[in-house]
Amino acid sequence: MNFQEKDFIRNDKPITPAGRLQLHQEAPSNIALVKYWGKYPVQLPMNPSVSFTLNQSKTITKAKLIPLKKPAPQTDFRFFFNGIHQPDFEPKMADFFQRIEKYAPYINYFHWEIHSQNTFPHSSGIASSASAFAALAKLIIELEKKLFTEKNAELLLAKTSFLARLGSGSASRSVAHPVMIWGEHPEISNTSDLYAVQPEFDLHPAFQNYRDTIVLVEKGQKKVSSTAGHNLMNHHKYKDIRRQSAFDNALKMHQILQTGDIETFIELTEAEALELHALMMTSQPNYLLMMPETIRILHLIRKIRQQSHIPVCFTLDAGANVHILYPQNYQSKLDKTLFNRIESDLIKDHI
Ligand code: PMV
Repeated sequence: MNFQEKDFIRNDKPITPAGRLQLHQEAPSNIALVKYWGKYPVQLPMNPSVSFTLNQSKTITKAKLIPLKKPAPQTDFRFFFNGIHQPDFEPKMADFFQRIEKYAPYINYFHWEIHSQNTFPHSSGIASSASAFAALAKLIIELEKKLFTEKNAELLLAKTSFLARLGSGSASRSVAHPVMIWGEHPEISNTSDLYAVQPEFDLHPAFQNYRDTIVLVEKGQKKVSSTAGHNLMNHHKYKDIRRQSAFDNALKMHQILQTGDIETFIELTEAEALELHALMMTSQPNYLLMMPETIRILHLIRKIRQQSHIPVCFTLDAGANVHILYPQNYQSKLDKTLFNRIESDLIKDHI
């Protein structure tokens, strides 16, 4: 089913809750295999992307809701991270609430006290905005389920992704497992720019026990925000070439995940990671996020793959950290050949 923006608008009156409500949701991070890079207002992708959803790296969000006598003109909330009030995070969240008001006007019927924590270390370099906005979107949909009788599960999952997208594009893919596709593709049915979907096939068993070990080459705040990076795509000299390439790669990845062709998976996943960074290195102004240690690890992965035929490959986010992808049964071999040669902290996750 393909939903339109109007399907997500809510004009009807909510049921009045008897008293305070408590909500609790969590959402995982995800790693793009085919990258979303470049966007149109409001948070619409320049190209389709395909991701693996992670399992361990999550944001857990709880909210205490106090009903208000009359709806607030804008969402009335306070945000706490790890138990500490975080006024610095609130303007970004206020923008998010304003963006989604049309689709979830019922949020303004409450005062919100929002408490979040991550299962991965803070400032670890893992993009937390995907899991954070996905958890918040899930919380809002949990509320919608309590306040309205509408129970169309397919619509509500699409709406969760739709709301998450309005917080952070990649968050749209953090609402289900194990693979998500975001962005309309003429050859992949039911895809949409408005929200991410699960592919209409079962993931091939070759990928079902995949691991993602994240090497924290650089911790802390990103040097160039992804918003700034997306913006540089607007006038990028390779914009059209990138768009075409991402459409081709999304379709290829869609096929690979069905057929279990690990060799082509490795080739395509690494090509996408390097293409993302090549776009950063050729934008105006250009910038370079990979560090010497990043490059050393990329070479090491390729060398080990060549020498020992272990099907291990890398991908990169918009940063210096390396995501190492491999089937779980190679874990102990990689512990002895690859991971023992890395000094940076590792976060072990799986899809
Ligand atoms: O969701 P954003 O705006 O942080 O952008 C994410 C962009 C990449 O992580 C580089 C790629 C992707 O598809 O996740």
